[in-house]
Amino acid sequence: MTEALQLERPAHVRPEQFVDFDIYAPPGIEQDFHAGWQKLHEPGVPDVVWTPRNGGHWIVTRNHLLDEVFADHTRFSSRVILLPKASGEQHNLIPTTLDPPVHRPYRNVLNSSLAPRAVSAIEEGIRDIAIDLIEKVRLQGHCNFTTAYSEVLPIRVFMTMFGLPLEDSAKLKAWADATTRGDGSISMGDALERIGVYLKPFLDERKGKDGTDMLSRIVNGRIGDRQMTDTEALQMAVQLLIAGLDTVVNFLGFTFVFLAQNPEHRRMLVDNPALIPDALEELLRRYPLVTIGREVVEDMEYHGAQLKKGDMVATATPLGGLDPSVNPDPMRIDFKRAGAQHVTFGTGPHKCPGAHLARTELRITLEEWLKRIPEFRLADDTPLRYAGGIAASIVAVPLVWDPASTRAA
Ligand code: HEM
Repeated sequence: MTEALQLERPAHVRPEQFVDFDIYAPPGIEQDFHAGWQKLHEPGVPDVVWTPRNGGHWIVTRNHLLDEVFADHTRFSSRVILLPKASGEQHNLIPTTLDPPVHRPYRNVLNSSLAPRAVSAIEEGIRDIAIDLIEKVRLQGHCNFTTAYSEVLPIRVFMTMFGLPLEDSAKLKAWADATTRGDGSISMGDALERIGVYLKPFLDERKGKDGTDMLSRIVNGRIGDRQMTDTEALQMAVQLLIAGLDTVVNFLGFTFVFLAQNPEHRRMLVDNPALIPDALEELLRRYPLVTIGREVVEDMEYHGAQLKKGDMVATATPLGGLDPSVNPDPMRIDFKRAGAQHVTFGTGPHKCPGAHLARTELRITLEEWLKRIPEFRLADDTPLRYAGGIAASIVAVPLVWDPASTRAA
């Protein structure tokens, strides 16, 4: 399709609703992924706009509309959640692409495995992994934070929760990566198959037993009056891998770039670690990174827009926390900001079941890192590179510090 054709405005889109906006490459992404979203919050831009990019779709630009679209599966279905729609149609993942009521029993299985009690049980294990990774680099005085820490922690946590051998972490992570952003060395289908072949013996071994690890809970999960099938269990395990790795990795990247560039904020947390949970909430508001979508269920008028059955609506979480109508001066980070609103973890039936685990991994990271390496900055020589996507990221986060300023806590 030529660019000219791509930029055509469908008849049901009013001229003022038409914007040329790429959700995977917001304007200025070379310098800052989040700044470009502000274009959609400029005066005069309608709350619901339509862009011809990525197959053509609507974008809801305000926090309260994101809330509404996420929450209302009767009007906005999860049957397709990835854009462009043509590629989204090819992904069926349990429970993400199911709508209630079918979604509910699968979600119950996930909720029980990721509930605060289940996460508390592994909190000390997460802390041990964090300390081990930090101690590996502390006296080195530098690291690529992405490869040395943020990519390693969540996969090890996943292996611990699933009761899988830690030494298989790298292998499983490579396959999980190939399912979302493969480098072409193995196809998505191949990667899924390899994950399946790898997990099968573990699933078989745990079926019918009363193990409390997450894989046991999934494989023994009940869907109404029947047992979860192997295929369903596998799909759920893969979904967890995909949803729980990149998000935490990428959010840690944004957080550590901010802390490296803002010594005053960093020192507030070093001097007063009790502030870390509030700081984390503000960072979650400021650095939302997930952009997915919903499919319109029927023709309707929605906040001045004529939505047609089958149209896609992008639910870009950056437009929630950065909405100036609910969070004044949204680009500024204020660890003591009160009443912040955001949809960084979504809302409604699909609201992230891993939010508590994510917060735990992030809090422990801040606690243990800042205790040991309180002073650090970005290496001067490498400009940051931002990448858009379903989960936006900073490609590499090179940090440097003086080993003499570190502490063996
Ligand atoms: C900072 C980290 C994270 C962010 C920003 C994040 C964000 C999100 C968002 C926005 C959704 C909603 C998707 C939708 O409405 O279609 C979601 C769903 C989901 N997340 Fe997370 N997530 C994070 C971490 C995690 C972790 C650690 C796990 C698990 C280990 C996880 C597992 C899931 C699953 C399984 C779903 C699908 C739930 C459903 O469809 O019912 N996430 N996440």
